[in-house]
Amino acid sequence: MDNVKKTVFSGVQPTGRITLGNYLGAIRNWSPLQDEYNCLYCIVDLHSLTVKQVPAELRKNTMELVALYIACGIDPSKSALFIQSHVHEHAELCWILDTIAYIGELNRMTQFKDKSRKHADNINMGLMNYPVLMASDILLYNAQLVPIGKDQTQHLELARDLAIRFNGRYSDTFAVPEALMFKSGSSIKSLQDPSAKMSKSDTNENAVVSLLDDKDAIVRKFKRAVTDCDTEVRFAEDKPAISNLLNIYSLCSGESIADAEKRFAGRGYGDFKLAVADSVIAVIEPIQAEQKRLVADKAYLESVLKQGAEQAERIARKTLDKVYRKVGLVGRIR
Ligand code: TYM
Repeated sequence: MDNVKKTVFSGVQPTGRITLGNYLGAIRNWSPLQDEYNCLYCIVDLHSLTVKQVPAELRKNTMELVALYIACGIDPSKSALFIQSHVHEHAELCWILDTIAYIGELNRMTQFKDKSRKHADNINMGLMNYPVLMASDILLYNAQLVPIGKDQTQHLELARDLAIRFNGRYSDTFAVPEALMFKSGSSIKSLQDPSAKMSKSDTNENAVVSLLDDKDAIVRKFKRAVTDCDTEVRFAEDKPAISNLLNIYSLCSGESIADAEKRFAGRGYGDFKLAVADSVIAVIEPIQAEQKRLVADKAYLESVLKQGAEQAERIARKTLDKVYRKVGLVGRIR
């Protein structure tokens, strides 16, 4: 990897369906970064284990997500594309960072509190430790930039705090990462409740558009999307439902929000909702076709993963050796 370029790291959990929110808030912003930066894009399977998984499904989802990354424009000849559990340094650095992370700061994390509420029968240590593993993902590669959606801001803050804390205690080691957020897509809302984010784990089918939904499902979901009380297609704070739809439309069609407001002036919500659905379908369909083709080519996906893990491991090993030395562990004689 090029030493002059900055490093970018990001990841998605292979848990259940990948949503339009994951795409517009994160994945879609990754491919344009590949020429300017050293990019590492990871499928964070260890994170997924913090909630109960069906093992065979997790494996299937993981390979489908590899294919989806490539279908969304991640080019394995430009970026390291790999699975988190293939590079064991992630879990090892997590242990070291655990020794400087405070229970109080992990307890306070909004996502930990949310997930503890949702999975009250399974509040495991991994759930609380989740942001420390995320910090390890990022710090292992000295990533300076982390493209994420708004919901990950608090976790990124923790990664920064841990980097600064470690550097202060053991001398300069880690780059302090920054979030890379694209305002318009960073918080796509539920189609049924615009005060909540569109979330993979939502139990209301109509609230979430999956990247794997077919045409009919997408049209149905947008038709059923909640709206605000008047009939005007206008972006405004007091119109959160229509603003969310306008946002999605603008991101998918490329038309500005102002132009879309003009186009749909006086036409009511029905037409507008169909146009939103069409714009999403136009983006998603080619991705689906390419993903389907790639999933069938297991040998290719495996070769990509092998190469990606090797690339990532080279960097990760160096960082971890340095960290082990700094904290006082005796290096292994090889
Ligand atoms: P995950 O898998 O929940 O989500 C993946 C990415 O999608 C973004 N996102 C959204 N963006 C806009 N609107 C939404 N409704 C929406 N829902 C999700 C998330 O912000 C995220 O960028 N902890 C991470 C995965 C992770 C990671 C990392 C990310 C693990 N290690 C290191 C960056 C760097 C997560 O749960 O993402």
